[in-house]
Amino acid sequence: MTSFVRTRRLRQSAALRALAREHTVAVSDLIYPLFIIEGEGIRHEISSMPGQYQISLDNLDAEIDDLINLGIPAIFLFGIPAEKDEQASGAYAEDGIVQRAVRQIKARTPEMLIITDVCCCEYTSHGHCGIIVGDSVDNDLTLPLLARTAVSHARAGADIVAPSDMMDGRVAVMREALDSAGYSTTPIMSYAAKYASGYYGPFREAAESTPTFGDRRTHQMDPANSREAMREINIDLAEGADAIIVKPALAYMDIIRAARERTLVPIVAYNVSGEFAMVKAAAERGWIDEERIVMETMLGFRRAGADRIITYHTKDIARWLQESQA
Ligand code: PBG
Ligand code: ZN
Repeated sequence: MTSFVRTRRLRQSAALRALAREHTVAVSDLIYPLFIIEGEGIRHEISSMPGQYQISLDNLDAEIDDLINLGIPAIFLFGIPAEKDEQASGAYAEDGIVQRAVRQIKARTPEMLIITDVCCCEYTSHGHCGIIVGDSVDNDLTLPLLARTAVSHARAGADIVAPSDMMDGRVAVMREALDSAGYSTTPIMSYAAKYASGYYGPFREAAESTPTFGDRRTHQMDPANSREAMREINIDLAEGADAIIVKPALAYMDIIRAARERTLVPIVAYNVSGEFAMVKAAAERGWIDEERIVMETMLGFRRAGADRIITYHTKDIARWLQESQA
């Protein structure tokens, strides 16, 4: 008999495959993004993100109850203010939309982990991530606004703040501002490696944050670069980041893996709006098996080295996992 290795031995039954399995996806790995909008009675489906809604505060309790029932442990909040201006005032207002949402959720369900996105683009009239001077975002003028926003989120009760602006020095100024305001225990989860990506298209509809001119290429990273991502990660960690986000996720699995090999902090993959929209569109046409494709993609993120995944598929995954256990 010729000698060869039978790797199929460990694949012949569900029980053997379970024994040999290296990675899993659990609902506790997932973080669900929510878009909170100023106004009343709003539950508005985002056309390019089927099943995702802009929700007003009066509809928020029901949504949170739904998430708790599904066992979803963490949410990621974005706000859409009634009014926008050049200073992004709504981002750091004590009664801003995110600040009120955080207070409301924490009053009813303190166990729900709340991560808040810290950026200016949903709050500026021009849709850019900070103060515009000439034709681009001024780094140093934007830093104090980000620090104020982070402190106001912490004061409202946010568990973690997550700067997504890609200004240089933001983690350092946010850490210092949080510490001096008495929030030295509030962690910073920075979008350390955030690329200037076409995959954010549907999000900008959801968050109403499409820039009225130009783009974000002067601060977000060039998709052609990977060493630069390691530099960004090192800098954010040196400035005090407690966890890091790689975004987008699907086309950047190499970055997740490289980050995993170089750092010890939690790594979070952001499975962004365009990635979600593509899957939904193909599934609606019956071209793919949505559940299979989504679960395979999540496993890919876990294999690449992501500890946690921010994904719009969270509620669907929670339901599938519940069904498979029933
Ligand atoms: C805000 C922000 C964006 C996303 C998260 N935070 C959009 C952007 O940078 O234009 C994208 C999320 C997604 O596409 O799902 N700066
Ligand atoms: Zn922004």
